[in-house]
Amino acid sequence: MTQDEMKKAAGWAALEYVTAGSIVGVGTGSTVNHFIDALASVKDQIKGAVSSSEASSIRLQELGIKLFDLNEISEFAVYVDGADEIDPSMAMIKGGGAALTREKIVAAVAERFVCIVDGTKTVDVMGQFPLPVEVIPMAREYVARELTKLGGQPVYREGVVTDNGNHILDVHGLSITEPVALEARINAIVGVVTNGLFAERGADVLLVGTPEGVVKK
Ligand code: A5P
Repeated sequence: MTQDEMKKAAGWAALEYVTAGSIVGVGTGSTVNHFIDALASVKDQIKGAVSSSEASSIRLQELGIKLFDLNEISEFAVYVDGADEIDPSMAMIKGGGAALTREKIVAAVAERFVCIVDGTKTVDVMGQFPLPVEVIPMAREYVARELTKLGGQPVYREGVVTDNGNHILDVHGLSITEPVALEARINAIVGVVTNGLFAERGADVLLVGTPEGVVKK
């Protein structure tokens, strides 16, 4: 089974959490693209979606799924998104696709976060995948120096501008044993918009695509 087939299995399994007549929060990435395909198969039974990126919005619209502005709704039941790593406490690293800020905002409003990953993304301790940090462009080098003081090696993701017009630093060399504390510490650096740790608000349900089928945690 390929990695993409595992992503597809997890993406389609998340349909179980979509209820009739609901607005669904939709993340970003190659795993979520499979979920969007699955959502299109029930589009007549849902109200529509709230999207976390321009890329997902385009895909949702192409498949005829109505988009809602997050400011138009005060609550919705389920947000479905992928992750770059997820640990046993259900804390995640996200932002490999540079959509972390809008993902964190949409996830914050949802009652439940359903994380969909292939079997390569589950880890005991996060940090092997570089931690993305979205920064205001003029603060980039200042924030990089502050992240170095925390023990990481930040690398500017050249050529990438986020949907919000900002830059991304990918922080290598971290061993993230206290994700909730590190998330708060990095967010406190002036010039940081968001970091890719989703720990304070982690996943509520995890669906892992494996060669043996989808495992739920
Ligand atoms: C997007 O910015 C990310 O948070 C993605 O959710 C994450 O990188 C997982 O992406 P894939 O599903 O493409 O592996």
